[in-house]
Amino acid sequence: MAKKQVANEEVVRIGLLGAGSIALFRHGLELSQNPYAELAAVYDPITERAEYLSSLYNVPVVKSEKALIDDKSIDAVIVCTPNSEHARLTIAALKAGKHVLCEKPMATSLKDATEMITTAEKCGKKLMIGHNQCLMSPHLKAKQLLSEGVIGDVLTFRTAFGHGGPETWSQDNGPHTWFFKKEKAYVGCMGDLGVHKCYLIPWLLGTDIEEVSAYIATMDKKNEKGELITVDDNAVVILKMANGVLGQLTASWTYYGPEDNITTFYGTKGRMILGADPDYPVEVYLANGEAAKYKVGAVATNTVQVKSGIPDLFVDCLLDGIDVPFDGLKGYKALAAVVACMDSNDAGKAIKVKNTLLCDCETKKAPARKAAPARKAAPAKKMKK
Ligand SMILES: NC(=O)c1ccc[n+]([C@@H]2O[C@H](COP(=O)([O-])OP(=O)(O)OC[C@H]3O[C@@H](n4cnc5c(N)ncnc54)[C@H](O)[C@@H]3O)[C@@H](O)[C@H]2O)c1
Repeated sequence: MAKKQVANEEVVRIGLLGAGSIALFRHGLELSQNPYAELAAVYDPITERAEYLSSLYNVPVVKSEKALIDDKSIDAVIVCTPNSEHARLTIAALKAGKHVLCEKPMATSLKDATEMITTAEKCGKKLMIGHNQCLMSPHLKAKQLLSEGVIGDVLTFRTAFGHGGPETWSQDNGPHTWFFKKEKAYVGCMGDLGVHKCYLIPWLLGTDIEEVSAYIATMDKKNEKGELITVDDNAVVILKMANGVLGQLTASWTYYGPEDNITTFYGTKGRMILGADPDYPVEVYLANGEAAKYKVGAVATNTVQVKSGIPDLFVDCLLDGIDVPFDGLKGYKALAAVVACMDSNDAGKAIKVKNTLLCDCETKKAPARKAAPARKAAPAKKMKK
C-alpha cells in the first residue's frame, strides 16, 4: 500500500504563499471546497491581500514567510507569488519538510529549476508545477483521442495562447504590474502563456520539444511611465518535436478581445481542433468525410474561471502517496523550451532545447539561497477512501 505523505493521514494542511489572483480564484477557492484539505495559513507581504483571502476562506494569516514555512503542522505549501520568488520559496519549503505545488513558470532560470528538482529529491518531498491546461476537459479528451489514433499519426500542429494582457488579472492591477517587469517576471507572454503550450503539447503528443526557432518582441504594452515594457508581449515560434512532428506556437498579450486558446493537430487521417467552438470544444474532421464534435467542458479563461483540479490532484497525490503527474522535470522541460525561444530570438537561429537537468558544476554556480523557518493543529477531516 502506498505510503501517506502527510502528518495526520486524513487531511493535508496547506499554506499559501501569496494571496494574489491565482491564490484567490483558484488555489484558495478550490481548496476551501475540498474536504481533504485544510487551508492552514496564508502569507502575503501586502497584508490586506492575505486578510481578504482569509475573510473569504477562513484561513489564518501569518506575519512572515518564515512563520509559514517553519510551521511543523503544515504539510504542504503552494507558491502563488511572482515568478522571481518561486525557486527561493520552493527550495526553502522543501528543506523545511514541506511538499510543494509551485505555480508556472516554475523558475526564472534552468539553474534554479534544477535546484528545485534536486532539493525535492534530496528531501524526499513532492514537487508539482501548476500546469492546469492539461486538466482542461478539451485537452483531456484530445489526449484520449490522440492516443486512440483517431486522426492517425500527428504530422504538424498549430497552437495559440493569447489574451489582452495580465494587467487586468493581476492584483497589481494596471501598467505597473510585476508581470511587466523583467526582474520579477523574467519573461513576458512567452513565459506566462507560451510556457503552458510548451508543457501541453509534449504532454498531448508524448514527445519532447527538441528545437525551436523564435521571434519574440515587445510591440504594444507600456508600463506606468508610458514606456514599452521590459519583457515580451508577442512570440511566434516554430517547434520541432523529438519525434519529428513540426508545429507553430504563438503567445500574445495583445490579442485584445476574446481569449485565443486554440490548438489544431493535423494527422495522417485528418485533423482535430481544440477550443475553437465554445459549444463543441473538440472537433474532428477526417479525410474520409467523417466528422465528430464533442461537447466537453470549456477551456478556462481569465474572465471565466473553470475549476482547475490542480490543488485537488495535489492533495490526492499526497493522501494516496502517489507520484504527482505534473512533476518538476516536465515543468523544467517547458521552461527549457521558453529559454530556448529567448535564445533563438537573440541568436537569430534555431536552438536545441536543454531537456536534461543542469549538471552539478553548473548548479553550484547558482546564487546561494537562504534557509527558510510553526503552528497549531486543526480539526481532522475525513480520510479519502
Ligand atoms: N496556472 C495558471 O494558469 C496561472 C494563471 C495566473 C497566474 N499564474 C501564476 O501564478 C503566480 C502568481 O500570479 P498572480 O496572477 O496570482 O499574481 P498577483 O499579482 O495577482 O499576485 C501575486 C501575489 O504574490 C505576493 N507576493 C510577492 N512576494 C511574495 C512573497 N515573498 N511571499 C508571499 N507572497 C508574495 C504579492 O504581494 C501578490 O499579492 C505567477 O507565477 C503566475 O505566473 C498561473
